[in-house]
Amino acid sequence: MTVRVLFVCLGNICRSPMAEAVFQKLVDDAGLTHEICVDSAGTSAYHVGEQAHPGTRRVLAGHGIHYEGRARQIRPEDRHNGSTYFVAMDSENREALQERFGDLPHLYRLMDFATHSNVHDIPDPFYSDNFEHVYRLVDDGCRGLFETIRANEGLLR
Ligand code: 4NP
Repeated sequence: MTVRVLFVCLGNICRSPMAEAVFQKLVDDAGLTHEICVDSAGTSAYHVGEQAHPGTRRVLAGHGIHYEGRARQIRPEDRHNGSTYFVAMDSENREALQERFGDLPHLYRLMDFATHSNVHDIPDPFYSDNFEHVYRLVDDGCRGLFETIRANEGLLR
């Protein structure tokens, strides 16, 4: 069965697209492209249809990571019979998901999986422009999340 991972932030133009792209690369590099389905979405509809923020695209390109996605809002089908791993960028996003979907069996913050940082929330770079700092947090969290999912889902090959 395919594992689904959905990264969620407010606008789906800065943090969650970055996490989606970083995580997708980990999945692809491990040869698990067909086992793990990666996506991202926003809790708001503010930027639906837009490309990722230039700061996110710049940082990803600087790390050799390709990304072409467009912003979308979360929708009821994302729940997928409860099988989706919802991974929020901050506590506010996590609360918005809980309000929208009720209790979810897999609802986390990305930094719950970080091993080199002790922050819980990824700061919003939309106003601070601190995209490189956000990248380091996202990379740390994605590596931990990837190992957790591989172990949980029996994908350690
Ligand atoms: P994101 O960043 O949630 O990481 O995509 C933001 C993007 C847009 C806004 C806020 C945060 N906004 O207020 O429009």
